[in-house]
Amino acid sequence: MSPVRKIGVLTGGGDAPGLNAVIRAVVKAACNAGIEVIGLEDSFDGLLDPSRTRPLTPKDVTGILRLGGTILGTTNHGNPFEYPADTANGKVDYSDRVVETFHKMGLDALVAIGGDGTLGIAHQFFLKGIPLVGVPKTIDNDIVGTTTCFGFDTAVSFAADAIDRLHSTAEAHKRIMVVEVMGRYAGWIALHAGVGGGADVILMPEIPYSIECVAEHVRRRDALGAKFSIVVVAEGAKPIGGERVVLEQARAGYVERLGGVGVTVATALEEMTGKDARYVVLGHLQRGGAPTPFDRVLATRLGGKAVELLRRGVFGKMVANHPPDMVPVPLADVVGRTRTVPLDYDLLATARAIGISFGEP
Ligand code: F6P
Repeated sequence: MSPVRKIGVLTGGGDAPGLNAVIRAVVKAACNAGIEVIGLEDSFDGLLDPSRTRPLTPKDVTGILRLGGTILGTTNHGNPFEYPADTANGKVDYSDRVVETFHKMGLDALVAIGGDGTLGIAHQFFLKGIPLVGVPKTIDNDIVGTTTCFGFDTAVSFAADAIDRLHSTAEAHKRIMVVEVMGRYAGWIALHAGVGGGADVILMPEIPYSIECVAEHVRRRDALGAKFSIVVVAEGAKPIGGERVVLEQARAGYVERLGGVGVTVATALEEMTGKDARYVVLGHLQRGGAPTPFDRVLATRLGGKAVELLRRGVFGKMVANHPPDMVPVPLADVVGRTRTVPLDYDLLATARAIGISFGEP
């Protein structure tokens, strides 16, 4: 096995707090081991055009630990196997060009930092002969094979803080406040932010809700003297027998965009309870700002482990957090799957036990 001397690093998919912390760890760990690092801009697009690449040294990553976003840029519609194009089927396959550029640049391996989409593309390139390691990123916490993804803790902290603040208005005006959070098809953010922020109702994709049951919970709270209610709703939540609220349908190279369930729930609850209801969509604020110390540490561990695996010649894996260890898991076992909240998760039982409603009949 020839030693790894030069590696590329890229970030793909939606940005998440902690991406820069991973880049920093990769660059420092690699350079300290005598490995050259090239930063690839905007995910795999950086390997379509060598002018979108630049060397990264420890000096280039000094001070980025606490920065949100990514110094390399990112995209969530740049799959080189299905690049959006003005063709009959709306896409074109540029993957051979990526492999060619990878070799022309003299790269020995890649670190691909991203969510399910990016890790799926990385896996396809691994099968096409590019040695690489994936690092799981997403605020949604829905990647299979790892217990936690960096970005999740920061998103939950922000959402819980927002719920704290919304309590003031809810209590003062005796209102229903509906808070729509992200998470795509998983309810991790809604559940953790809801419990951490003291929500009264949590609606999430894994547990289809009855709006009548939610209204009944609000009425019960009123009868007991708690004249306000906080309802946290995940963007992917749907009523029993109903559909998710979709903002934009999927099209070539673009995934479905969720959003809008908050206003639907607030409007229905206002009508059914006669109480004032307001809604807030936290949206991309959940992905912004400085990563929490937890996410900085997790991101640093993931980045450091990724370099260790490349040095050991372990390729085609994703670094996974299996407390107390960081372990390699095959990308093949991870991609194309979604880790939703298990219905036997103890936090669900505890939440029910302390009186939180999931809108279940
Ligand atoms: O996957 C992260 C995420 O923020 C989801 O929670 C959300 O559904 C989606 O990305 C939003 O994507 P975009 O930034 O393309 O609007």
